[in-house]
Amino acid sequence: MHVDRDITPAELAKILADSDDTALRAEAYRQKVALLGKKVALRGLIECSNICGKNCLYCGIRGGNAKVVRYRMTEDEIVEAATWAAENRYGSIVLQAGEIQNEANTALVERVLTRIHTQFGDDLGVTLSLGEQTEDVYRRWRAAGAHRYLLRIESSNPELYARIHPADHSWQTRRECLCTLKRLGYIVGTGVMIGLPGQTVADLAGDIAFFRDEGVDMIGMGPYLPHPETPLAAAAAPAFSAYAMTLRMIALTRLCLPDVNIASTTALQAIAPDGREQGILSGANVIMPNVTPRKYREEYLLYPNKPCTHEDSELCRGCLGRRIHSIGEEIAWGERADPLHARGEER
Ligand code: 5AD
Ligand code: SF4
Ligand code: FES
Repeated sequence: MHVDRDITPAELAKILADSDDTALRAEAYRQKVALLGKKVALRGLIECSNICGKNCLYCGIRGGNAKVVRYRMTEDEIVEAATWAAENRYGSIVLQAGEIQNEANTALVERVLTRIHTQFGDDLGVTLSLGEQTEDVYRRWRAAGAHRYLLRIESSNPELYARIHPADHSWQTRRECLCTLKRLGYIVGTGVMIGLPGQTVADLAGDIAFFRDEGVDMIGMGPYLPHPETPLAAAAAPAFSAYAMTLRMIALTRLCLPDVNIASTTALQAIAPDGREQGILSGANVIMPNVTPRKYREEYLLYPNKPCTHEDSELCRGCLGRRIHSIGEEIAWGERADPLHARGEER
């Protein structure tokens, strides 16, 4: 099956609506292997803080959820987790947290980035996933050593975005942040949730067209998983299976945009025990093992049934290695593995 880069949203939607997806997924996996080999790149995920100024209607750690015990890792703890990932040859790390917009936080991240960059240089990929910030903040973090940024658009349809966020959360602002990040020289990743209440196949087709038209380098998509302590919990799910549709979205994205990095997200494994392996077999090439200290993991539940909540970094390392080998793939130990789409653009 050949998918043209200029495929129309209507054609994308037609493919996504077809639940007979064995050939689609197999072709996407062939494409992944042809271009990137039988290799999976790792990004060690450090969940630095669950304090969040936002109130997204779907998220377990939204500011409005008073049941969450809030934490913030210290600078030393973050550097220690990064060091563990580097020494275990993960190749890159992701610093993720709820959205905090203040100088104390900006300066803390800046110091942490400087320490990590001084220690590991360009050998360790450093990605941030710290939400919407001003251009000045993004610039400071880039100068301190971050070179990739993840900011999911959540849905490319501004109307759907408005239905799953409070009125003061703006789709336009988010999109502008993606443009700013790109302009500042970051390798940029975005993504969406799949199976949102009211989401249609046309919305998802629009998501793939958005990834293409925005020229993003990295994509992370996962099934939406209702969290009981959120306003969106009671809303009805769409008719399609979020799990199967996520695998189809990964496959179609790989065929449409062969040279981007696509993550097989942990949320897939919250639905099926081999969810992340199936994501790889559908064309994804990146996995983000959790390297957050064990004691904080239970407080970073964006969605229920999150895998690896009771495990530590060492255990996940062994577990993931076995999982990846079980499907005949290898881990790209020690490789930064920047997306082919961005080669030549990074520092
Ligand atoms: N189900 C699935 N994914 C979620 N996220 C937040 N809440 C949920 C949920 N209930 C995702 C969002 C966010 C990323 C960090 O986690 O897409 O961008
Ligand atoms: Fe905060 Fe991100 Fe959750 Fe929204 S999705 S409430 S910004 S942590
Ligand atoms: Fe964390 Fe399997 S990857 S327990």
